[in-house]
Amino acid sequence: MASPSPIAVNLTVMALFITAVASATQAATSYVNHTVGGDAGWFFNSSANITATDYSKWAANQTFNLGDYLIFRTSSNETVFQTYNETTYKSCSADDALDSDTFQYDGGFDQLGQPLSIAVPLTIEGPNYYFSDADDGVQCQQGMAFHITVNHGLGLPPSLNQPPPPPYSEPPPPPDSSPSPLSTVGGRSNDGAVGAVADALLVIGVIISSGAGALLVI
Ligand SMILES: *[C@@H]1O[C@H](CO)[C@@H](O)[C@H](O)[C@H]1NC(C)=O
Ligand SMILES: *[C@@H]1O[C@H](CO)[C@@H](O)[C@H](O)[C@H]1NC(C)=O
Ligand SMILES: *[C@@H]1O[C@H](CO)[C@@H](O)[C@H](O)[C@H]1NC(C)=O
Ligand SMILES: *[C@@H]1O[C@H](CO)[C@@H](O)[C@H](O)[C@H]1NC(C)=O
Ligand SMILES: *[C@@H]1O[C@H](CO)[C@@H](O)[C@H](O)[C@H]1NC(C)=O
Ligand SMILES: *[C@@H]1O[C@H](CO)[C@@H](O)[C@H](O)[C@H]1NC(C)=O
Repeated sequence: MASPSPIAVNLTVMALFITAVASATQAATSYVNHTVGGDAGWFFNSSANITATDYSKWAANQTFNLGDYLIFRTSSNETVFQTYNETTYKSCSADDALDSDTFQYDGGFDQLGQPLSIAVPLTIEGPNYYFSDADDGVQCQQGMAFHITVNHGLGLPPSLNQPPPPPYSEPPPPPDSSPSPLSTVGGRSNDGAVGAVADALLVIGVIISSGAGALLVI
């Protein structure tokens, strides 16, 4: 039996290498909805002063990618704050938070105990922080808080991918407001500054042309 040619061996090695690299980088194959806390949900028992589960432990055992959602199965006794600011997260309060980096996802219920399901899309790579500020921060201090790291994965799906703002373009001049200097020659325009400049240019032009005329005469 003929042994395989060196070229065939090389091709096989290359194919195996490409397959290995592809499977190592192809971690995310679809977008995932993560129910926060699993079956326990996002709940705090105020009489026992404890969270329904250990949210940091829950978060540590998942992989999060752009375009995934966090689904908070919760009630109006808790709140859902998302922040990109570690200082805000550690303070357990949104009182000093900036509108640009901290968002409240809430039903806005007045009554306690109303069931809520809140879907939070993951749209920014890197650290994302979550907490409930309810009960004057006690819930958060008692563990209603967790942080995650969002990986690139498949990138944002079109439904979450906001187009960049359009490039700036000079607004068109309003009609009739700045007539060309030619039309102001011989009379005051309604625009004093433009008219004055045009008049000055006219005077300079007259001086130059009369000077030239004088030179010609001499
Ligand atoms: C994930 O949650 C979002 C928001 O509620 C929803 O639009 C989407 O259909 C859900 N995806 C899956 C796979 O359940
Ligand atoms: C809250 O904790 C108290 C005391 O441990 C317990 O009796 C009660 O059933 C808990 N409430 C809920 C909704 O789990
Ligand atoms: C809950 O724990 C906090 C400490 O984080 C404490 O200040 C508060 O008094 C406790 N509340 C109850 C009802 O035990
Ligand atoms: C971590 O998640 C896997 C499934 O993704 C599960 O089998 C395992 O029990 C979880 N571990 C903990 C400590 O929750
Ligand atoms: C984080 O938020 C605090 C207010 O809680 C603010 O003073 C600080 O500038 C913010 N940090 C960043 C990096 O925006
Ligand atoms: C919400 O809070 C109220 C008042 O503390 C309590 O009676 C009720 O059991 C809580 N509901 C849930 C779902 O935790």
